[in-house]
Amino acid sequence: MDDMLNTQGHVRLGSSAGQPLTRRDGILKVTGAAPYAADARPEGVLHAVTLAAGIARGRVARLNSAAAEAHPGVVKVYTPANTPALAVSPDEKIHPFVWRMEVLQDDRVRYAGQPIAMVVAETLEAATEAARLLAPDYEAEPHRVTLDDAEPFDTETTAFGRPANMTKGDLATARATSSRHVTTQVDTSAQYHNAMEPHAITAQWVGDRLEIDTPNQAIGLSKQTFSAFLGIAPEQILLRSPFIGGGFGSKAILYGAQLLTILAARDLERPVKLALRRDQVYGPTGHRAPTRQTLRIDMDDMGRITALDHDTITLTSSFDQFLESASNASHSLYAAPVLRTTHHGRRADVGTPGPMRAPGEAPGSAALEIAMDEAARAAGLDPLDFRLLNHADTDPASGMSFSSKALRECYAEAAGRFGWAGRPQEPRQMREGRLLKGWGMGTAQFPCPMFQAAAHATLRADGSAVVETSAADMGQGAWTALAQIAADGLGIDIDKVEFRSGHSDLPDAGVAGGSGHTATAGTALFNAGSDAVRQLADLATQDPASPLFGAGNAGVTARSGRLWRNDDDRSEAYEDILARAGLELIRGEGTGAREGEPTHAMFSHGAVFAEVLVDPDLGQVRVSRLIGAFAAGRIINPALARSQLLGGMIWGIGMALQEEALHDTRSGRFVNNDLAGYHVPVNADAPMVEAITVHEDDPFVNALGIKGVGEIGVTGTVGAIGNAVWHATGVRPGRFPIHPETLI
Ligand code: MOS
Repeated sequence: MDDMLNTQGHVRLGSSAGQPLTRRDGILKVTGAAPYAADARPEGVLHAVTLAAGIARGRVARLNSAAAEAHPGVVKVYTPANTPALAVSPDEKIHPFVWRMEVLQDDRVRYAGQPIAMVVAETLEAATEAARLLAPDYEAEPHRVTLDDAEPFDTETTAFGRPANMTKGDLATARATSSRHVTTQVDTSAQYHNAMEPHAITAQWVGDRLEIDTPNQAIGLSKQTFSAFLGIAPEQILLRSPFIGGGFGSKAILYGAQLLTILAARDLERPVKLALRRDQVYGPTGHRAPTRQTLRIDMDDMGRITALDHDTITLTSSFDQFLESASNASHSLYAAPVLRTTHHGRRADVGTPGPMRAPGEAPGSAALEIAMDEAARAAGLDPLDFRLLNHADTDPASGMSFSSKALRECYAEAAGRFGWAGRPQEPRQMREGRLLKGWGMGTAQFPCPMFQAAAHATLRADGSAVVETSAADMGQGAWTALAQIAADGLGIDIDKVEFRSGHSDLPDAGVAGGSGHTATAGTALFNAGSDAVRQLADLATQDPASPLFGAGNAGVTARSGRLWRNDDDRSEAYEDILARAGLELIRGEGTGAREGEPTHAMFSHGAVFAEVLVDPDLGQVRVSRLIGAFAAGRIINPALARSQLLGGMIWGIGMALQEEALHDTRSGRFVNNDLAGYHVPVNADAPMVEAITVHEDDPFVNALGIKGVGEIGVTGTVGAIGNAVWHATGVRPGRFPIHPETLI
């Protein structure tokens, strides 16, 4: 197998990786045959409906349980008075991906939208009507729901326990000796994931075994979490999540209503299904918190950055701590010899925020790229020239080399395609009819994490294979890209690969998040395939009846379902090797993780260029062109990667111009908790979006050279649009989404 390692120390893949294959699950999805969690209809299933708190803080003084129970078809009404206890406290932090479980263990209301009761009935209609009959009375207390009135607190950590503050170098001296500086403040708004599929769960107990259908981005971790809160062994849980109608981070975190449904199924000894309505997703299932970011960039006479200072104020709930680590976006992008990043927390009576679409990086990049444009202007430089001048050749935060960084190529490729060279430096110089036209840009960057994954690969007597890992496909195409890697690990054609995934009895594929799923689960699958092939090669090279006998020293190569000698052109089919050995199958195992301390800084990079048209009378902004070029290591499936990048850039349009969850500050309740009021981009908002991938060979990021494409698209894009709006109007956006009235 030596031939599988090339001289750079990373693995050469076969013929499947790199192909733009269509999604293996595509036909199931577009024909409606793909089963989602809310489609599960086990025999005798009951329907659960939660009642959401209508105040933001206080307690539930009274619920009319009698009226609800009297409604025909109602089986049971769960309130804090009769809900079974959890095995551990609802505040227990079993691992960093656990939020407080809101499971009716007390009568406190901590945020609007919190479940305060759950009705279980024979029909959805009966449960819905009975929940309405509960007609709660509250003892309300004064609440805070916005960044402006929230309660400040000091914190040492942000999301996932990352350090909140970092300083490198002497800021005071750098400032005193710098000749230019700019200070920029940018606010970003609360956003909700709004996956196409609202959260749902169907739970049933089959004897001692709990079977759960629920969309989930972290199957292995979630099994652990459920087991801890329920006080049962992980092996007693089967979690199925074959299809996920979008996650964006919100389905990586468990929420209390899932546990409530499971408790009810155990209590009632019948299957119970809970499918949240769109409005019920707002509050208990996480969101992106608003931020207020202040950046100061100091420069010398040439426009070289001498110091970069990035502060973030952000919001979390009154009872949990997830802080958007936005300032970290400044750690590793531009060559700042002096660097300070800080975060300040505030508490409000809202549900706990959580990871959403490049958590930290997306709002952080938005503010950083606005500040960079202001700095370029202060330096009298073109925005792209300014970024090239301040290109970081090594990672400013860690001092390490980048594992690879084809950012200059991204700039050149995207700028060329966009036609950036003709851009006038002053704003308000271009028009299209009566509309103001502007061009802006931003740099994209996203880290390359790896999690822990395991996989099995089993070669069968007929030369086909089954590969197994619990990977989650929420629409990104994981099942296809991972099957491609598995096929190459096994050295067989992809149509011979049966890919089993999406449930918790399989080896754990780790988290589908952080843009690290393909790298992590893919490595596990590749290693499992290689392990099986290695066993096969041992059989053949030691068998005098095989044409491969004695090829051990020169090695063999696996390709097209055959092993090939490296020292001549003889080969043998897998079926024949297995048949002669009298074996039905050979099973390989593999894991994927990053070993040891990193020796390099590892990031995907990109450059995004935006053109906007702004109505000078109405302030309405339209993105007319968006072109991004990205360098993300080895691209396993160019069609799927392009979709991921386009999707990320379109999230950027949403964040820049549309998406904003608003509270009524008087009631503490949501104003726009539906898709009529919470706007997301549709096709008409994204007329011309182009994503280019730039070749990048990364020998360090992992053996397969995969970096990840899931989230980088949103970084760079928000700032690019904001900068284009400035170029069109001369108004520097101070918040996202940009409000039309601020432009006129
Ligand atoms: Mo994500 S926010 O990595 O699903």
